Amino acid sequence: MDFFNYKDQQLFAEDVSVAEIAATHNTPCYIYSRATIERHWLAFDNAAKSHPHLVCYAVKANSNLGVLNVMAKMGSGFDIVSGGELARVIQAGGDPSKVVFSGVGKTEAEIEYALEAGIYCFNVESEAELDRINKVAKELELIAPISIRVNPDVDAKTHPYISTGLKANKFGIERERAVEVYKYAASLDNLNVKGIDCHIGSQLTEIQPFIDALDKVLNLIDEISAAGIQLSHLDVGGGLGVTYSDETPPQPDEYVSALLERVADRPNLKLVFEPGRAIMANAGILVTKVEFLKQGEEKNFAIVDAAMNDLIRPSLYSAWQNIIPVDANLERESKVYDIVGPICETGDFLGKDRDLAIAADDLLAIRSSGAYGFTMSSNYNSRVRAAELMVDGDAVHLVREREQLEDLWKGENLLP
Ligand code: LLP
Repeated sequence: MDFFNYKDQQLFAEDVSVAEIAATHNTPCYIYSRATIERHWLAFDNAAKSHPHLVCYAVKANSNLGVLNVMAKMGSGFDIVSGGELARVIQAGGDPSKVVFSGVGKTEAEIEYALEAGIYCFNVESEAELDRINKVAKELELIAPISIRVNPDVDAKTHPYISTGLKANKFGIERERAVEVYKYAASLDNLNVKGIDCHIGSQLTEIQPFIDALDKVLNLIDEISAAGIQLSHLDVGGGLGVTYSDETPPQPDEYVSALLERVADRPNLKLVFEPGRAIMANAGILVTKVEFLKQGEEKNFAIVDAAMNDLIRPSLYSAWQNIIPVDANLERESKVYDIVGPICETGDFLGKDRDLAIAADDLLAIRSSGAYGFTMSSNYNSRVRAAELMVDGDAVHLVREREQLEDLWKGENLLP
């Protein structure tokens, strides 16, 4: 459930009219709802209450400082994949001791930064990475907390680009070699082997793949324990899907409860969750203005002021996100449109074949844009990146200014 609703046919973000925000801050703009973020985060945290746990929000979904700050204030942990994300977490008031560091290619500099910041755990993806973390920790005379990402070889049944738990993926260590790799990690002086982690993919709409992966990892924990290595936490990754159109993913509390059932007999095994999309997707919309309506030979186009540089999911994954009018009370003729941006690419669309009653200058809201929206945006076609706003009740906070033209060439130089 989110807090973007119509009141008298006008779209509101919590208690503020979206049209008013657009009038003040212009379009395209992202609008986030604080109450929605908090509600979604709490759904995970409350469901896990009875068991030791840590909700580590996956920063890649939306790394705006305002967004991170809302979760930091709730005591959230964070799942990061770069030094840049760690810097953002710290800048937003997040607690580094609740940070897990994922990703296959951590640099020495990133490892050093994370070690000095005192993160909770490195989620390690290869033996080469174990060696590298051990080496950096030795140089700093520190002990690095680590977990090993195992690849449970479970089909997440999601889009191939966002499926990560299959053998053919670049992520994690094969289950068959896991015990051996754990033994190796335990032999390294500057590592403290704390946990195990997995992540099988994103936008999963069924519970079964999560359960299958968990069961495999729990078996593995027992094998690792038999080899003399006791693990204190299990990081189940992220991946819980959301409703973009008619998907019916499990609710966060159902998902957490289903996993908790499996670990009920392990009261000391701390569970770490890394949700990104489930917290942020429906906590944000992208608001855009219709510039022109254009009648093609075969199609009607609504050319809007947002583009694939602002929201790349439709172009990149053929993702479907709902597009709705901000003012649902306007008398217009309804037609089927492709909603396209001004970028010079055929792939620059935000939605295809949408039945809409619109005219030039109307505002549209692209729903479910709070996750993997702004964070995947770019300056392609030298377009400045959109403003980001956070609504909190009846207050609107500008959490990122719209870029200025000068920002486009920041750091660039002319030849002498
Ligand atoms: N943990 C790890 C190790 C991950 O790789 C990811 C996402 C997450 C947690 C968070 O997953 P979530 O709860 O958000 O599903 N750009 C794509 C999604 C890529 C997800 C990458 N990894 C999209 O727009 O659909």
